[in-house]
Amino acid sequence: MLVLGVETSCDECAAAVVEDGRRVLSSVVATQIDFHREYYGVVPEIASRLHTQWISGVVEEALGKAGVGLNEMDGLAVTARPGLLGSLMVGLSFVKSLAWVSGKPWIAVDHMKAHIYAARMVHEIPLPHLGLIVSGGHTLIVRVDDHDTMTVMGKTIDDACGEAFDKVAKFYDLGYPGGVAVDRLAAGGDEVAFRFPKPKLDKRSSPYDISYSGLKTAVINQRDQFLVAGKEPTPANMAASFQKAAIGMLTDRIALAAEATGLCDVAVGGGVSANSYLRKTLPELPGIRAWFPPMALCTDNGAMIAGIGYEYLRRGIVSTLEEPARSRVILRS
Ligand code: KG4
Ligand code: ZN
Repeated sequence: MLVLGVETSCDECAAAVVEDGRRVLSSVVATQIDFHREYYGVVPEIASRLHTQWISGVVEEALGKAGVGLNEMDGLAVTARPGLLGSLMVGLSFVKSLAWVSGKPWIAVDHMKAHIYAARMVHEIPLPHLGLIVSGGHTLIVRVDDHDTMTVMGKTIDDACGEAFDKVAKFYDLGYPGGVAVDRLAAGGDEVAFRFPKPKLDKRSSPYDISYSGLKTAVINQRDQFLVAGKEPTPANMAASFQKAAIGMLTDRIALAAEATGLCDVAVGGGVSANSYLRKTLPELPGIRAWFPPMALCTDNGAMIAGIGYEYLRRGIVSTLEEPARSRVILRS
């Protein structure tokens, strides 16, 4: 079954053709990074305007690279939530139009579920399992019962993990996008040069919740208070210590969630799943089997949308033209 997947929820304009939910025949990602760099963040107005300009070329290129025509597709899939509304509406309206003129079945999918599905595209992960979704807009620990059924166990109560990376990078002018810049800089730094604080959340009512605002404030406004005696306050040391603290919060919560549920498989998704420290330390947790997507499927892409779309379409589950775009997460909690 051939599915065309379209993704425009944030600043990547992406499309892909995937066979049977797994075999990626093409994946085109037109990134807007250069257009948002000077603002050190995604400007929604610019993002949706560029999607409008690029979407038909990106879809055409995905079909061309796969060597197939629209008429050969068995179905279409598109991100409808969560994300920037103006951006989502470009992809959603585009796919609705394609579906309308071609008469093809189509499905509106959830971006968060697609990020978890990205790991499932390349690994056989026994269900149920835990999921860690870490992106620029979200930080969620979920229980995954199947591609569609995910229950939120924990989430950030303030900033998202990727957002904390982005804000630290912005403040210290480390480069854009921030996560990649911090990760790169941290490689040459000493991760115990600063001892940044861990958040003190109510362990009984929300044992898996996470908070990044304290860490962000410490790194940006109180950095020198946390310098370990005898260590140098270099940017690389700061990046490495921040990264250790930011990622350590995730791995601590995953260890707790695994112990409480008895689920030891963890699928990771979202832009921060590309982080080298997370990719190294999560699999080191005792008893944990960590499943990461390949790098190309970590950040936003159309292949994971086509992949998860296949799971619905093959079961005959389709959307109608009334389907709205939604900015918020609607996983169960
Ligand atoms: O999933 P994604 O592409 O877009 C959203 O849905 O938000 O995630 C983008 C986020 C950004 O905050 C970016 O800084 C972060 O993922 N990111 C990273 C790394 N690569 C991307 N964060 C830490 N380390 C990385 N290597
Ligand atoms: Zn994403």
